[in-house]
Amino acid sequence: MEDLLAMQRCNLLCLPENYQLKYYFYHILSWPQLLFVAEDYNGKIVGYVLAKMEEEATEVHGHITSLAVARTHRKLGVATKLMEAAHRAMEEVFGSVYASLHVRVMNKGAFHLYTETLGYQIHDREPHYYADGEDAYDMRKYLKPASALGAANGGTPGKAKEDAGKQQVDGSTAQQGKPADDARPKSGDKARRPKVAVDEVD
Ligand SMILES: CC(C)(COP(=O)(O)OP(=O)(O)OC[C@H]1O[C@@H](n2cnc3c(N)ncnc32)[C@H](O)[C@@H]1OP(=O)(O)O)[C@@H](O)C(=O)NCCC(=O)NCCS
Repeated sequence: MEDLLAMQRCNLLCLPENYQLKYYFYHILSWPQLLFVAEDYNGKIVGYVLAKMEEEATEVHGHITSLAVARTHRKLGVATKLMEAAHRAMEEVFGSVYASLHVRVMNKGAFHLYTETLGYQIHDREPHYYADGEDAYDMRKYLKPASALGAANGGTPGKAKEDAGKQQVDGSTAQQGKPADDARPKSGDKARRPKVAVDEVD
């Protein structure tokens, strides 16, 4: 419970896309394996990743709902570790074929993390995805090795397309992960699990 509140606090400090506490509960109750936090030496939460599964999709896949690292702890590899932990759980626990996320087209830091460090590719561009009108890149990272993708995807590994196309404006304020339920994130209103120790990253 305390971790959820600390995650929410970190989210409020780092991102304009905020969530009601019930949305964090929804995540931890549904997919407890997919929430991770990073702590400093004093046990203070300085980063989190909130992720979920899209179980009704054609291809079962994980989705990164939100990721943030406190300014004081950036560029230390914390986000990379959090994301890798979430990817591992998506694949090992839920058999996720790929991971998806949304990112603001102008968020260069996060875009570098996703594309250069983690190997995500642009799948689509969603105009006016964010509440302030900014577009989002819909990104995907295939989690299974190419050999395993043959069965899951009709033999087309790495389906990411470097294009912009279909429009799916949903009005969600979520920067990553538009929830399809009552607990949709609402701007101004305001999600743990295994901890990734910050001291592992230096
Ligand atoms: C984006 C964010 C999560 C990155 O966290 P982080 O812990 O600093 O990331 P890492 O230390 O794991 O860095 C991973 C890579 O991204 C690069 N990177 C991180 N921030 C960067 C920035 N602002 N500009 C350019 N590159 C950046 C790092 O140099 C590193 O590159 P490398 O692997 O080539 O060496 C963090 O800046 C943040 O919380 N930002 C605000 C919230 C946000 O934008 N969340 C993502 C929303 S989609």
